[in-house]
Amino acid sequence: MHSCVVGLQWGDEAKGKIVDLLGGQHDIVVRFNGGANAGHTVVVDGKAYKLSLLPTGLVRREMTAIIGNGVVVFPPRLAEEVASLEAAGLNVLDRLKVSDRAHVIFPYHQEEERLREAASSDRIGTTGRGIGPCYADKVGRHLAVRILDLLEVDRLVARLREVVPRKNSMLAALSPEARQFSVDELVAEYRAHGDYVRPLVVDTVEYLHKARQQGKRMLFEAAQGSLLDIDHGSFPFVTSSNSTLAGLTSGSGFPARWLDQVIGVIKAYTTRVGGGPFPTELNDGPDGIGERIRRIGREYGTVTGRPRRCGWFDAVAARTTAQINGTDTVALMLLDVLSGLPQLKVATSYLDRGEQRDWFPADAVTLARCEPVYETLPGWEEDITGCRKWMELPVQARNYVRRVEQLVGVPIRHVSVGPDRAQTLSVE
Ligand code: GDP
Ligand code: IMO
Ligand code: MG
Repeated sequence: MHSCVVGLQWGDEAKGKIVDLLGGQHDIVVRFNGGANAGHTVVVDGKAYKLSLLPTGLVRREMTAIIGNGVVVFPPRLAEEVASLEAAGLNVLDRLKVSDRAHVIFPYHQEEERLREAASSDRIGTTGRGIGPCYADKVGRHLAVRILDLLEVDRLVARLREVVPRKNSMLAALSPEARQFSVDELVAEYRAHGDYVRPLVVDTVEYLHKARQQGKRMLFEAAQGSLLDIDHGSFPFVTSSNSTLAGLTSGSGFPARWLDQVIGVIKAYTTRVGGGPFPTELNDGPDGIGERIRRIGREYGTVTGRPRRCGWFDAVAARTTAQINGTDTVALMLLDVLSGLPQLKVATSYLDRGEQRDWFPADAVTLARCEPVYETLPGWEEDITGCRKWMELPVQARNYVRRVEQLVGVPIRHVSVGPDRAQTLSVE
């Protein structure tokens, strides 16, 4: 059994919780896109684990974890996160493999991102982790540095002598206050990172294929959400990788056609961190429903601490992304956050200059023009965080789940009613 978990909204759908839940049925967990821009919280028996660059499946002590070739790695963050998970009682170093082909983030990437965002009139609102500039160097090829370049000092020196002066000129052209970087200092720093990472580095593509031949079961976890996908998301307010299933094959070397199931994760409402249009956003003030969802759902970014923008469930978006990912089943998360609201709205379509749309548009200008068409459903009063069986949910909650399922067009298999691993129920 090989599975992939993808987010069907703008990230933070609680993919981490589903990866953890499915972890028990798999042997190897694989990250294939993004980097330390992701932030996942997993709660097991009341204890919370936070992961960003590392695969969430590490919380399952028996799993081997892979950082695939499609991930961008900031080595100081890697070491920090390993240390923090080990301090929380998880053994990590003996279970982690890092791709020799993964690209490396440097502080000049973060500086470039800072300057470009500061100069922009319509900021993307990135996480500031250097993700976009690193992927740009990967695709651009000339200035890229990969993990395997860190492993031999001569090679590292040669790469950085080539790259750093050109980065310095580019940064100086962006702003007279731009930071400048020293080749010697970066060599010393990244040589040490190379020493740290060396025992973890393997050809992860070969590793995955050989593990498959031995009958190992793979679980792939997409970072970010499908609406942040560089090709299929709300461009340009997206991240710089393919966060849909499309990223799996390129970012891991494992053919997506060998998967047995794709599980799409959605929240019972919608959130978004960063800039860009958001049709169902609730801007209804400090006493409004948007703020209530933020407070009850603790909707603050794991990576940046920014308050997440909150709004009603958007079936146009989820229907589109469910299709793009070839989603077999859906997990509907954070249903408990909607308890206590007398009425719930879901956007069933958009109106764009009087025309009805049922598919997510290609650009931000069109998306900004789209007005959601809402359907109103009755809410429920009860606290549902203690429910463990489908039939224990109030009838209005079950009807809400069923209506979302109908609108998205994919069966909902799991419903989550709280952050803990145990607060999950199967739809009957
Ligand atoms: P990810 O990036 O998709 O893995 O999601 P995050 O971890 O960034 O955000 C999801 C948040 O919701 C985390 O803090 C989880 O602990 C929490 N969470 C997960 N499932 C539920 C749920 O069903 N109810 C509530 N109230 N919180 C949940
Ligand atoms: P997880 O895996 C939510 C958003 C940023 C910004 C845009 C681009 O936890 O779901 P980037 O730093 O990637 O260049 O920022 O993407 N973003 C996320 N939003 N969850 C995430 O990851 C995100 N990763 C990036 O807020 O709008
Ligand atoms: Mg997150």
